[in-house]
Amino acid sequence: MQETRRRILESLSDAPVSGPALADELDVSRAAVWKHIEALREQGFEIDSRDNGYVLLGTPEFGGAGVEYGLSAPFEIEYHDSIGSTNDRARELAAAGESNVAVLADEQTGGRGRLDREFSSPSGGIWISLVCRPDIPPAQAPIYTLAAAVATTEALRDVGVDAGIKWPNDVLVDGRKLVGILTEMEGEADRVSWIVVGIGINANIDADAVPETATTIRELVGDVDRSELTRTLIERFEELRSDPESVLPAWCNAATTLGQRVRVQTSNGDVVGEAVDIEFPGTLVVATDDGDERVSAGDCEHLRPT
Ligand code: BTN
Repeated sequence: MQETRRRILESLSDAPVSGPALADELDVSRAAVWKHIEALREQGFEIDSRDNGYVLLGTPEFGGAGVEYGLSAPFEIEYHDSIGSTNDRARELAAAGESNVAVLADEQTGGRGRLDREFSSPSGGIWISLVCRPDIPPAQAPIYTLAAAVATTEALRDVGVDAGIKWPNDVLVDGRKLVGILTEMEGEADRVSWIVVGIGINANIDADAVPETATTIRELVGDVDRSELTRTLIERFEELRSDPESVLPAWCNAATTLGQRVRVQTSNGDVVGEAVDIEFPGTLVVATDDGDERVSAGDCEHLRPT
């Protein structure tokens, strides 16, 4: 967000402030203050002009400015009302050398899921892709996906949604999918060049607009403030990526897979047994009849206990 506008909002958040007082505080002309106030109103900030000055009555429900206002993580927001896929746009930005950008959209017309599946992304969701340039080898990239799943689950729990992670990164409520995560990356053998973490949350959407196996926040707890939820998600993701060792303990708290009987479909066949542990950077340990097996990728299904 433009610095002067951020400072105006900061001033107005405490008490009404007059135009001349704002002009003095920011060392700009009164006409400039007025222009900034108008621009903020256009971005969706509800600012009233009263006898004792400008008053901030409300912030935008969603959008770039709505999310950036009060965001305490080093991500710039690039917002689109509608876009093909936020991951596609994030990949373009990553390839052009950008870092720490969150591409955010209200609607995707070509949302992509894992295994080249389509991902339904109607208006009202939170479709977001984070561009990161970590100094890690490609083998450690799964920790970013796990961090995204944890950050999203914790943000959802904050708004009263009883979400849990199914290994590795599906976020479910009562067995129905609420969030999908698609991580893509490019790099050399020993170092990642960029990672794009795409997160899709079925937020303020009617249940009949998503597949039958999915659910939405609206169906579960009613509509939420998407800007606030997005800020919490990004800030928590930032904390986790800054401290990779904290990711697995946080994942264990947010996940429902450990202790369950599971079937994991891998490229080498099915692994069936009890999920007993997770190891860095996201490997599931399954106790099978033939001993412990370690699985780093695959489709996981929770089975009924035998
Ligand atoms: C899956 O469950 O298969 C992963 C779905 C990932 C969807 C998100 S929505 C934001 C980002 N943009 C995309 O096109 N895909 C990801």
